[in-house]
Amino acid sequence: MNTSNMTATLATLLNRNSHPRLTDPGPDAEQLSVILRAAARAPDHGRLRPWRFVVITGDRREALGKFFQESLQLRGVTDEAQLAKALSAPMRAPVIIAGLLHAVAHEKISRDEQGHAVAAALHAAQLAADALGFGCVWRTGGYATDPHVVAALGGAINDQVIGFLYMGTREGSSKVLPEESVESLVSYF
Ligand SMILES: Cc1cc2nc3c(=O)[nH]c(=O)nc-3n(C[C@H](O)[C@H](O)[C@H](O)COP(=O)(O)O)c2cc1C
Repeated sequence: MNTSNMTATLATLLNRNSHPRLTDPGPDAEQLSVILRAAARAPDHGRLRPWRFVVITGDRREALGKFFQESLQLRGVTDEAQLAKALSAPMRAPVIIAGLLHAVAHEKISRDEQGHAVAAALHAAQLAADALGFGCVWRTGGYATDPHVVAALGGAINDQVIGFLYMGTREGSSKVLPEESVESLVSYF
């Protein structure tokens, strides 16, 4: 496809990549509002709104790091290097959005399906951040399903973090996009 004919939307979709090295500034309040509105426009079977978004910035990242560290300790980790890494993990970006699945009991719409809606929302947030010029990376790890971390984020007992979106200004060069050979992944029925 001739990229000069590509709409900005398609260019964002086709060129998005993750950028783990992120620095100040992160999205401001107005930009965050756009990012979160994009997330909330994700497809959502039954309009159950099974997502909760928690924004972590500034010194609240240190508080989150403490919960990450405690999460490891509660799981029996004593290795100092691992504990120090957990403590500083949230400092890797100026803004983090935790996207939680808050599943609603429904006879037809499963928890899994509701989790897919949260994932769609997070992808939309990632694309919106990209369109606003910010880098982003989606992370999970053991913290995402740890009730200690989920409760600290204000989640309910069966909630889980579908993704921690780290976002900010890209530091260093972006990686070269891999060639996608979709042919091997697609068949026609
Ligand atoms: C559900 C989910 C969880 C992920 N968790 C992590 C993670 O914990 N750590 C990590 O380095 N990458 C994680 N990733 C992958 C990165 O966000 C990223 O997609 C990957 O490094 C590939 O880079 P790309 O997005 O530029 O193709 C996760 C992605 C998804 C969709």
